Amino acid sequence: MSFRLWRVWRHALYEARFLILIFRISLPFAADESNFNHQIMKLRSRPKPRARLNSRELKPYIPLVMDATHAAPLNSYCIITYGCQMNDHDSEIMAGILDARGMHPVKDESLADVVIVNTCVVRGGAEERALGRIGQMAGLKKRRPGMIIAVAGCMAQKDAGQLIARMPHLDMVIGTRDLYKLSSLIDEFNRTGESLVSIKDVDKPVFLDAFPVRRKHKIKALTTIMYGCGNLCSYCVVPQTRGREVSRPMSEIADEVRRLGDDGYKEVLLIGQNVNSYCHEGRDFADLLEALNGISGIERIRFITSHPKDCSDKLIEAVASLDKVCENFHLPAQSGSDSVLERMNRRYSAGHYLGLVEKIRQRMPGAAVTTDLIVGFPGETEADYEQTCELLERSRWDSAFIFMYSPRAGTPAAQWPDSVPLAEKKRRLQRCLARQEEISGGINRALAGQKLEALVESVSRRSARQLIGRARGGKCVIFDGDAGLIGKLVQVKITGSVPHTLFGSIDEA
Ligand code: SAH
Ligand code: SF4
Ligand code: F3S
Repeated sequence: MSFRLWRVWRHALYEARFLILIFRISLPFAADESNFNHQIMKLRSRPKPRARLNSRELKPYIPLVMDATHAAPLNSYCIITYGCQMNDHDSEIMAGILDARGMHPVKDESLADVVIVNTCVVRGGAEERALGRIGQMAGLKKRRPGMIIAVAGCMAQKDAGQLIARMPHLDMVIGTRDLYKLSSLIDEFNRTGESLVSIKDVDKPVFLDAFPVRRKHKIKALTTIMYGCGNLCSYCVVPQTRGREVSRPMSEIADEVRRLGDDGYKEVLLIGQNVNSYCHEGRDFADLLEALNGISGIERIRFITSHPKDCSDKLIEAVASLDKVCENFHLPAQSGSDSVLERMNRRYSAGHYLGLVEKIRQRMPGAAVTTDLIVGFPGETEADYEQTCELLERSRWDSAFIFMYSPRAGTPAAQWPDSVPLAEKKRRLQRCLARQEEISGGINRALAGQKLEALVESVSRRSARQLIGRARGGKCVIFDGDAGLIGKLVQVKITGSVPHTLFGSIDEA
C-alpha cells in the first residue's frame, strides 16, 4: 500500500473512532430525550469502548456497533397471546403500535422479525405453557440473531429481569402498564443492542386510549372500562400483575364505542376484572350501560367479568331493560362452601350467590349465567366440595370453567398448606366437569324449537355455506346462510345442539 493511501485509511479509522465514541456516549442522552417516564434496566451490556483507542483496538468495535444497530430492517411481527380478555386487548394494542411502524403481522413466528409472547400466570399451567413456548424460541434466535424476542403481559410484570437472567435469548421484557412504549423500546434496542426490561410500578395507571388498535374481529370489539383489580382474593395473582383497580372515564369509553359504531362494529365487549365495581365520578356500571345503549351502529353490548359481591339490583334491572345489553352474566362463584369462600376473601356466601342467579333468571328467563369454579383450595374438605357440587346442581349454569387450585407465589393462600393431593383435585375436577357437561347439554337440548336472535360473526371453517353466529346469551349458533349476512342480526330456529354449540336454520318469518 502506498504511503498516501495508508494515510487516507488511517485518517478514516481515526474519524470512525470518534464517530463510534460519540455514538456510544450519546446513548444515555438519547434514552433521556425519549422522555421515558420509566425504569429501564440494561442487563446484558456489551463491553463499552475505553476512552482512548488506537487503530488496532478499534477493529473489534466495528462489528459490534453494526450488530447493535440491527442492519436488517424489522418488517414483520408475530404476537402469541395467552390468558384473558385483558391480554387479548393488549395484544391488539401492541399489534396496532407495530402496524403504525409499517410492520405487518405473520402467523408463523419463525418468519417474524419481532416475536412477542403475551403471557398469563393466573395458574401454574398457564405459566408453564408460556415458559415452554418462550424456551423453544432459543433455537430461532440462534438461527436469526437479528430478530427480537419480547415477553409482555403478566409474567413480564411478575418476574421482570429474572426472565432475561433465566433465558438469555430474550431481548425485551415489557410490563402490563408499559406496552404503550413498545415502539420506543424497539428503537432503543436497535440503538444499543442491549436487553431491556421496562416495568412500571403496576399501581401507576396508564390509559392506552391514544394508541392505534388492530382488532382481531371485524364485527365485535373489546373495550377496556377498568384496569387492575382491587379485590385481593387470597388465591389470585392478578392484583400483583395488573395493579389496583382504576375505572376509565365514562366519556372516553363512550367516545371509543361511538367510534366503533361509526367504523361498522356491531358488538362491544366491555372488559375489566370486576366490571360490576366500575365507578367514575359517582356514576356506576349500570349508568355506563345506559349511556352506551343509545350509541348508534352498535347493536349489542356485553360485559365481563362480574363479581357476585357487586352485582346490584340496579345492574340486573339495567341489563333487563336496556335493549342492546345482552342477558349474559359471567358470574364466577369459585366455591359453594361459605368457609372456603371466606378464606378465598370473596365476600359473599353461597346463599347470596344463589339468590342472585334466581333474581337474574326471574327477571330475564332467557338469561345465560356462566361461572368459574376452583376445586382443591387449601383446606377444602370433602364436605366443602360437596357444597360446590350442590351449588352446581342448583345454579344450573349454562357453562362453567372449572380449575384445580394452583398456588401462586406472593398470594396469602400460597402460604397455607396445599392440603388436597393432586389426585384428589383431579377427581373433584373431573366429577364437576362431567356433571356440568350434562347440565349444559340438557339446557341446550331444551332450546330445540325456540327462535333465538343471532349476530352473524363469520363463515364456518368447515363449510363456506355455513355461518357462525352468537345468541344474546353468548352461545355459538351454526346455521346455513350467505356470507353477506355477516354483521347482521338474524332469527335462528334451533334444531339441535351439543353442550357448547347450537345448530339451527334461519327463520324467515
Ligand atoms: N376477575 C375474574 C377472573 C379472574 S381470573 C373473577 O374474579 O372472577 C379467572 C379465573 O381463574 C378465576 O375466576 C378463578 O376461577 C381462576 N383462578 C384464579 N387464580 C387461581 C388459582 N390460583 N388457582 C386456580 N384457579 C385460579
Ligand atoms: Fe383475581 Fe379476585 Fe380480582 Fe378476580 S376479583 S382478578 S379472582 S383478585
Ligand atoms: Fe392471566 Fe393476567 Fe389475565 S394473569 S388471567 S392474563 S390478568
